[in-house]
Amino acid sequence: MALAPTVQLRSGAHLPLLGLGTWPLDDDEAAATVGRAIETGYRLIDTAENYRNEKGVGEGIRRSGIAREELFVTTKFNREHHGRDGVRRAFETSARLLGLEYIDLLLVHWPNPDQGHHVEAVQGIADLLEQGLVRAVGTSNYKPAHLQQVLDAGVVPDVNQIQLDPQRPRIEDRAFHDEHGIVTESWSPLGQGGGLLQESAVVAIAETHGLTPAQVVLRWHVQQGLVAIPKSSDPNRLAQNLDVFGFELSAEEIASLYTLDTGQAEIVDSDEFGH
Ligand SMILES: NC(=O)c1ccc[n+]([C@@H]2O[C@H](COP(=O)([O-])OP(=O)(O)OC[C@H]3O[C@@H](n4cnc5c(N)ncnc54)[C@H](OP(=O)(O)O)[C@@H]3O)[C@@H](O)[C@H]2O)c1
Repeated sequence: MALAPTVQLRSGAHLPLLGLGTWPLDDDEAAATVGRAIETGYRLIDTAENYRNEKGVGEGIRRSGIAREELFVTTKFNREHHGRDGVRRAFETSARLLGLEYIDLLLVHWPNPDQGHHVEAVQGIADLLEQGLVRAVGTSNYKPAHLQQVLDAGVVPDVNQIQLDPQRPRIEDRAFHDEHGIVTESWSPLGQGGGLLQESAVVAIAETHGLTPAQVVLRWHVQQGLVAIPKSSDPNRLAQNLDVFGFELSAEEIASLYTLDTGQAEIVDSDEFGH
């Protein structure tokens, strides 16, 4: 069974380049899918308070029988916990539901800049890192302007998880992350399994290599150092999505996928939306 390679974060933790997304699975579906994914070779699991499936994710982990240190578990908390004490309480609730003593990567799910606590929320995670309760500090849906405020407060997140796929490659965000040693993680890396996978540029490359369109898109992410967390609850698709480390796309193929850039930003604007 082949595992995904890892990238080392600033904190020293090793984040697999490919993992399992668990939205919108409920507890029962999450338990079954997480168990199957771990058997298939997945070691990174992505959940969130907001998905209401942390209990199921924990159940899937326990059923798999895998050693805790083999896994990399990410969760995220909602806007009402943005404050140093609130983050601690959010951690405790997630850890209890997951049945884990520590969480590998804890993310602020959305910055919610209207509240003005998006810096404190990250500082709260940094406190947990010092206490050994998390292995890495992260944000999600932070724009460079939000991250700059975090950096100005003296904290550098390990990871920023943003919506990213060949149709919205987020080049400026990625350049900002790279400049500061922040790893970019792509949510909805397959464009939610929609029209992206039918684009002729994707299908042509898939046919050349004898791959599926999803494998081409996932290879585009990981070959560029982007961590991808595709969701699938189908056993065959789970296996094919992880099987993207035995081939390479040429520079021309990568470039042809950039022609799919629609010029549109992410679907929801994190200055306006958040939970
Ligand atoms: N931080 C955030 O704000 C945020 C927001 C959204 C999502 N996320 C995270 O990112 C994860 C992934 O995003 P997502 O679930 O929105 O979208 P996605 O992973 O891009 O796409 C998932 C969809 O693609 C289908 N699919 C998966 N593998 C496939 C394959 N090989 N061929 C064809 N179709 C395939 C899935 O159906 P089947 O299950 O039937 O295979 C599902 O309908 C989420 O699960 C969640 O963990 C984070």
